[in-house]
Amino acid sequence: MSNYYLRHRMKNLNVEALMETVALLNSKIENKPQVGIILGSGLGGLVDEVKIEAEFPYEQIPNFPVSTVKGHGGKLIFGTIGNKQVVMLSGRFHYYEGYNMQEVTFPVRVMQQLGAELLMVSNAAGGMNKDFKVGDLMIINDHINIFPEHPLRGQNDENIGPRFPDMTEPYELDLVKKAQGIAKAKGVKLFEGVYIGLQGPTFETRAEYGWLHTIGGDAVGMSTVPEVIVAKHGGMKVFGMSVITDLGIREEMNVITHEEVLEAANAAAPIMAGIFKELLVQL
Ligand code: HPA
Repeated sequence: MSNYYLRHRMKNLNVEALMETVALLNSKIENKPQVGIILGSGLGGLVDEVKIEAEFPYEQIPNFPVSTVKGHGGKLIFGTIGNKQVVMLSGRFHYYEGYNMQEVTFPVRVMQQLGAELLMVSNAAGGMNKDFKVGDLMIINDHINIFPEHPLRGQNDENIGPRFPDMTEPYELDLVKKAQGIAKAKGVKLFEGVYIGLQGPTFETRAEYGWLHTIGGDAVGMSTVPEVIVAKHGGMKVFGMSVITDLGIREEMNVITHEEVLEAANAAAPIMAGIFKELLVQL
């Protein structure tokens, strides 16, 4: 393979950079995180539940992707929720922003190498299941990946994970059951379904929503799947939830704006935060 190809075409995981980042963070934190948490657009409420021990703006973490949006730098937060040590990503990196897949998933690699064995993710998503309404919550029980780039493409490091990872149960069914128990006790209805991850940034056309439903999707969004793939590759367990912020159902479809998505996510955020928190306590 020519040097040109290696330099310009292949985006491999930079293990040296990863280990440098992990060593630096390790030297600054007291307790190893058990759980990594990534919160989606408008779902930041769980941050208020963290007893914070340390936080690092992304620009102060070596090798971390740099945020392109001024004033929205984001930070990595270490602390406890209930009796669990957590590391939380406040502000995730989306593929549509222009990051490559190594950048989008680098924080998950960091969480993994710091010792987190479970990844909890959330997102805002468009609903395609006819039973869904705006504001409903869906536990992700499987996904379909139609991002144009795969986060594991390129050389594989067997010390990190296998070349061909199994994906028969990406979302831990045990945790789905536990979450359902918690929801029942709280009197909250949680749907379950398949999340389709794609690149955006356009919302889907009517024809696309129809197709995505036909191929098996209950919800669709522009995140999560790359992070989950990388988490599984590195041996983590995963739990994920979507807030349905708009509907891609023919009879109910309307013009969708980012503001409406955020509004719906904000409204549902406290309920989701309550379920995540209780799940953490019960683990
Ligand atoms: N499509 C894609 N991404 C989204 C949607 C949607 O309808 N809603 C929130 N994120």
